[in-house]
Amino acid sequence: MAQTTLIAPSILAADFARLGEEVEAIDRAGADWVHVDVMDGHFVPNITFGPPAVAAIRRHTTKPLDVHLMIAPADPYLAIFAEAGADVITIHPEAGPHLHRSLQTIRSLGKRAGVALNPATPVDALAHVLDLTDLILVMSVNPGFGGQAFIPGSVDKVKAVRALVGKRDIRVEVDGGVTADNAGALVRAGADVLVAGSAVFKGGAYAKNIIAIRQAASGNRRRA
Ligand code: DX5
Ligand code: ZN
Repeated sequence: MAQTTLIAPSILAADFARLGEEVEAIDRAGADWVHVDVMDGHFVPNITFGPPAVAAIRRHTTKPLDVHLMIAPADPYLAIFAEAGADVITIHPEAGPHLHRSLQTIRSLGKRAGVALNPATPVDALAHVLDLTDLILVMSVNPGFGGQAFIPGSVDKVKAVRALVGKRDIRVEVDGGVTADNAGALVRAGADVLVAGSAVFKGGAYAKNIIAIRQAASGNRRRA
């Protein structure tokens, strides 16, 4: 059963020069989680935040920090991101040779463990780690940049992931190109965490944008 839909704004779309204020603003605007995209310029062709930035962000919100690690290797940095204040730590299977062990490590640090599937990564990559997984992140764009177009086949992938999850207590998150236009279809397919960067930060109307996504997610689509 899908749980209440959570909205996780991605601060990749924030003004980095005012990151603390931006995090406070999305918190006030109704964000459920704060999604933090960590990129290393190696696993993905872009560079963003490190552990000190996560620790700094931590001081500006009490909402769960949903830390999406697009770094390889990830293992040497799991403990430091946990210490920095991450609540959910999500890794990509391609980031290291031992996904099972990496998830064990995240759990042993007292954090929720997530697995992110790139558009080309098959759902089967999860088959033998479900008992160690608290969240599955379906990438609906190729990771690295905000503002990319949603890959339509992602809706069917979400369905396949939800079917695999069955009755397990695992969140299904979608990340990339999520807007009020596709939120309804994603939730109907089984998603219960929606990451949105551009769609939340556009025009500076964070609360209005979050409400629009939330209404679309709940099936109450309103035209702007
Ligand atoms: C992409 C990131 C996403 C991104 C989403 O690599 O993982 O979280 O910030 O941004 P939008 O919603 O603009 O596609
Ligand atoms: Zn992300």
